[in-house]
Amino acid sequence: MKYEEMEVKCFLTPTDALDLPEIDQFLLKKAHEAASKAYAPYSGFQVGSAVRMKSGQIVVGSNQENMAYPSGLCGERVAVFAAGAQFPGEKIEAVAIVSPSPVAVPSAFLPCGGCRQVLLEAESRQEGSIRLLLQARDEVVLVSNSAINLVPFAFTVEDGGLSSVHS
Ligand code: THU
Repeated sequence: MKYEEMEVKCFLTPTDALDLPEIDQFLLKKAHEAASKAYAPYSGFQVGSAVRMKSGQIVVGSNQENMAYPSGLCGERVAVFAAGAQFPGEKIEAVAIVSPSPVAVPSAFLPCGGCRQVLLEAESRQEGSIRLLLQARDEVVLVSNSAINLVPFAFTVEDGGLSSVHS
C-alpha cells in the first residue's frame, strides 16, 4: 500500500457576536452565565456551555473540578450529557461553549479532544449536525455547522463498531 500525505480543512468561521442571530446570542449569554457558576478552584479556568434542543429548551453546564483531578468534567460535557439525561432521544440544535477566563487565549476557545469526540457522537446518534458557537473573551465567535469540523480523522461509529449500540 502506498501512503500519501493527507490534508484536512477545518471550517470555523470567525463571526462578530453582534452579527449572529439573536437566538445564538441568547445561547452565548446562557453559556457565559453558566461559566460564572463553574467550580474550577484548581485550574482557575471557567468554562460554560449552553445546549439548545430542537424543541427550544436550553440546558446549561459548567466545568466541575475535583481534588482527585481526573474525576472532574469539562463544561460542555456536563451540558451535553445533562441534555441527554433530561431529553433522551431529542435532537440538539446548537451548543455554545465559552471561557471568560483570563487564563484562556482571548480570541478563541476550542474544546478539548474528549469533548470534541462527545459532540461528534451526539451528532452521530441524532443523525444530524450540531451548530457550534465558541467564544473566549473577545467579541469574535468561532462558528461551525458541525462537530466534524473539529475532529479531523475522527474515530467514527464504523471504526468502533458502535452502530448497534446507538438507539
Ligand atoms: N475544560 C473544559 O471545561 N472544557 C474544555 O474543552 C477544556 C478544558 C476545563 C477542564 C478543567 O476544569 C479546566 O478547563 C482546565 O483544564
